[in-house]
Amino acid sequence: MHRLFSDLNQGRWRFYSDTKIIGTKTIKQAKDCLRQVLETEGFRKCIILTDQGVSKTDFFRRFAKDMKSDIHILGVECDIGPMQEAVDAIRKDNIEAIIAVGGGSVLDAAKVIAAAIDNTDDFFELSKLHELKSPALPLICIPTTFGTGSEVNMYGHVRVGNKKLGIRRAWLAPKFAILIGEAALGLSKKMRYLTGLDAWTHVYETLINCYETNPFNRALLKDALSRHATCFQSYVDKPTVENCLDMATISAMAGLAINNGRTGIMHTLAVPFAAKTGFGHALSLLPFIKPAIRFNYNFLDKDLSLKKSNFLTNVEKQLLFMAPSFMNEWDMTFTQNDIDEMTALALSDTVLVKENPRQISANDIKLIYNESLEKFIA
Ligand SMILES: [Fe+2]
Repeated sequence: MHRLFSDLNQGRWRFYSDTKIIGTKTIKQAKDCLRQVLETEGFRKCIILTDQGVSKTDFFRRFAKDMKSDIHILGVECDIGPMQEAVDAIRKDNIEAIIAVGGGSVLDAAKVIAAAIDNTDDFFELSKLHELKSPALPLICIPTTFGTGSEVNMYGHVRVGNKKLGIRRAWLAPKFAILIGEAALGLSKKMRYLTGLDAWTHVYETLINCYETNPFNRALLKDALSRHATCFQSYVDKPTVENCLDMATISAMAGLAINNGRTGIMHTLAVPFAAKTGFGHALSLLPFIKPAIRFNYNFLDKDLSLKKSNFLTNVEKQLLFMAPSFMNEWDMTFTQNDIDEMTALALSDTVLVKENPRQISANDIKLIYNESLEKFIA
């Protein structure tokens, strides 16, 4: 099943959506919904997984208050040690469902933990399995940042030291996702901006895929793009439970789309750049957004309604309004050798070449790196 990708060239598409999604504005509403989910599904013993940072927030304190479940703290970025301890605790206490509360890395770790419980003692073995022998433990994901779409997507991660393993399997998709607008009220403006920007790139890039796409993705993503244009600035500057829930919705829409498509040049170029600079994911996307749009602009499918003459101006105004405040502070120098290394790494993404609206070569990638990082090249 997992290998059945869409290929519009062959006239075939698929859309998987394994996660039931509930949207709420407040913690109170969310807890009422969670109670009903637990009751209807018959989950009596649950564990809450989160991380140190989230566990100290006012949001988490209010969420976890009156909940009878034990709380287990995960490590940073899917660290394997605390994940193994969580598996042991879940098995020992006969836990029936996991409630994961946190950003992308907490949710990505929780997905792998849920899949491992009745299947293996070795997380790395999971990456080799195409199907699970026993179903994953039911997982309810509650995102506290709205950008990755991890609460609905089929990506999981495990990290040992500096080695991070990504797993993409349909059986990693959580059973439930509960979106809570109020979760983002306590985030910093910078965090809301960067995660919301990441969500936009997921929407835009999965929308312009050539073959690995489908009518459901396109309908969801067109709606997500216009919602983003309406709510992003106010979500960053003046967050309310309403605009926060809107951003949570956009992020989840993009998460579903990524399950059924893929990201494009912005992400392909950002990964080697993040490896060189040590930047976080969203920050590493910043230089590539405009050049990537420009590169593909004349090759976009007319039906996507992205070829409006003011599209780039709007992106600049409605999306990149905080970008200079980050990039002006960067103190870095790249040589042509660095650009060559990043180009070679980017080229290992063979699907990009197939899915990008415009044919893309090694030389094109090099040119886009040079244009995007012009200010920083020696
Ligand atoms: Fe991303």
